[in-house]
Amino acid sequence: MPQLAAGLSAEDLAAQSMPDASPGKWHLGHVSWFFETMILAGRPGYRVVDERLNAVFNSYYEALGERVERAERGLMTRPSLAEVMAYRAEIDRRMEAWLAEGPGDGLEPYLFALGLHHEQQHQELFLMDVLNLMSRSRLDPAAYEAEPRVVGEREARLGGWVSFEGGLTQIGAGDDGFAFDNERPAHRVWLEPFSLAADLTTNADWIEFIDDGGYRRAEFWLADGWARVKAQGWAAPLYWREEAGGWCVMTLTGRRPVDPTAPVRHVSFYEADAFARWSGRRLPTEAEWEQAARADPAAFSNLTGEVWQWTASAYAPYPGFCPTEGTAAEYNGKFMANQMVLRGGAFATPEGHARPSYRNFYYPHQRWMFAGVRLATDGAQVEDEGAHDAFRQDMIDGLSRRVKALPPKWFYDAEGSRLFEEITRLPEYYPTRQEAALLRRVAPEWAGRFGPDAVLVELGSGASEKTRIVLDAARDLAAYVPIDISPSALNEAAERIRADYPGLKVVPVVGDFEHLAPPPVEAGQGRRIGFFPGSTIGNLTPEAAIALLRSAREVLGEGSLFILGVDLVKSPQVLVAAYDDAQGVTAAFNRNLLVRANRDLGMDFEPEAFDHVALWNPEHSRMEMHLRAMRPMTVRLGKLAFRFAAGESIHTESSRKFDEGSVRALAQAAGWRLEAFEVGPDPAVGLALLVA
Ligand SMILES: C[S@@+](CC[C@H](N)C(=O)[O-])C[C@H]1O[C@@H](n2cnc3c(N)ncnc32)[C@H](O)[C@@H]1O
Repeated sequence: MPQLAAGLSAEDLAAQSMPDASPGKWHLGHVSWFFETMILAGRPGYRVVDERLNAVFNSYYEALGERVERAERGLMTRPSLAEVMAYRAEIDRRMEAWLAEGPGDGLEPYLFALGLHHEQQHQELFLMDVLNLMSRSRLDPAAYEAEPRVVGEREARLGGWVSFEGGLTQIGAGDDGFAFDNERPAHRVWLEPFSLAADLTTNADWIEFIDDGGYRRAEFWLADGWARVKAQGWAAPLYWREEAGGWCVMTLTGRRPVDPTAPVRHVSFYEADAFARWSGRRLPTEAEWEQAARADPAAFSNLTGEVWQWTASAYAPYPGFCPTEGTAAEYNGKFMANQMVLRGGAFATPEGHARPSYRNFYYPHQRWMFAGVRLATDGAQVEDEGAHDAFRQDMIDGLSRRVKALPPKWFYDAEGSRLFEEITRLPEYYPTRQEAALLRRVAPEWAGRFGPDAVLVELGSGASEKTRIVLDAARDLAAYVPIDISPSALNEAAERIRADYPGLKVVPVVGDFEHLAPPPVEAGQGRRIGFFPGSTIGNLTPEAAIALLRSAREVLGEGSLFILGVDLVKSPQVLVAAYDDAQGVTAAFNRNLLVRANRDLGMDFEPEAFDHVALWNPEHSRMEMHLRAMRPMTVRLGKLAFRFAAGESIHTESSRKFDEGSVRALAQAAGWRLEAFEVGPDPAVGLALLVA
């Protein structure tokens, strides 16, 4: 905590912005007081540092006597900041001596762990309270230069819903490791089938709620919540303000424009609940949240590390709840009325503090916590409606950037997949023909290394045409698992392969190869052979390509093989012609992204007002495709508007070109060994065989 306080003035640390918040100086003293009172004072003959401090730093422990009212902590000009820091130093010294002696038996080791977790809780409270204080200043001060984030980057959105069958399950902390008393005992609960949103609710979602009259329409609100809306004039999350340029928000780094892609923060339970009702969804119960977080954490983005997530569960004791013995009995149990549970963890929650069983709790009207929303819904299957969430989010994210860009995976709706197949037959588009020819040459030898009952796992399989070359060479394959983001292309290709290879088990998976899951169990346990042709790896940034190959190695397992197709660096004339063909098929493929956005997201792009541009970028060794606005225009997505200057473009695809050295470096960075690298005739492409 002293590190968090380091850049703040003594005045910053002394003021109290509202009754729920405490001055920084108080937090600094209170956490040391906790160690002194809960641990040191229990030792025979212990003499407290200054017994008057008990009334100052006692938060809410009735058993420890009279204390300063919470709302009056801001009057604490004495002890001074220097005296509080001296008190901390003295307690640190005494605790070090206590540690050197070794904690006693009984409750002491638990109370010590409790003291550390308590300090961590106050680190987050400290940041909440500092932000609230700064928000009250007309100067919009930045408390910190950079947001004091515990976890690095926010996790990318995954899109859609994750479904669970429900049934009898267990929640709560087991006997091992530290947990607060309120997380115990572990116990059984019955869950009906439910689905949980893969991602957190964003500011863009919230703006739609606001624009649709969310704060003016009583039908979405619980009665107590609606009373708050009216009494306190709520019209947006706490710290938001509408200015000429749009919404802005007070943060720990000062006032900033609201980032539409970021998870919404600083909403109360009442707002979260109203938002869920407006969305036609609901908040998850805490048991649903915990079950989902334990069963399939990889299926969600930002379960922790961004915002605490409101649940629909009242904060109540678990069956068999038993408060910690002694004074610490007051820690959690006595607050078990009128509050709601939040799950997860926030950017300001210290590392290692959150866990799936963690129960945070606040009153339903409170908003100064780092609290947000993850929606839930009844039933294990969510209809198609959420299917465009990830596309929509990537669109908002991509068009909000200084250099507008979209991930190329959105090219491949049914029409995009069809156009891509047409491209592969164009005279200028050499990669497909050249790669197929090279594959015919190497497949017999490489397939000889697969061994019996191997499972071919293809990433971005599209029409599965090149796959046939491998299937013909490896007649004893047990199963084929094509993975593609385009359901139409995938399912049609799977049907054709089933018909032509009747002995082969075909297990198609609709999915994003950047979020690989282990092959389905039906595929069997044979050696995994990854197959990633078409130089699709070149569409990823170098970092994303390494991440993909690393996760493929993990999912395919030790001893697996991986056949990787790459396009090679060559003359820019040949490259540009391949991406800007005379018949305009590639241009249609590129513009189809806008057609798709209009259909799936209700946008109003004029595809014909965008030029298709293909250019060679020697610095990054890649071909680039862009859609360049021919004139100034504004494009809308719901209530959001995105402006284009004349000549401004959306970067829609990069296709990195390789050589043997760059492929070897890529493979090694991801934990694979380059076993063989074969190059075909001009215009040349390469095939690499990697071994895990
Ligand atoms: C350039 S095509 C290559 C198709 C085929 N493998 C070939 O070599 O001709 C890219 C394929 O990957 C799929 N794809 C693109 N991004 C994807 C992603 N993130 N996850 C899964 N499939 C993706 C597309 O639907 C398309 O079928």
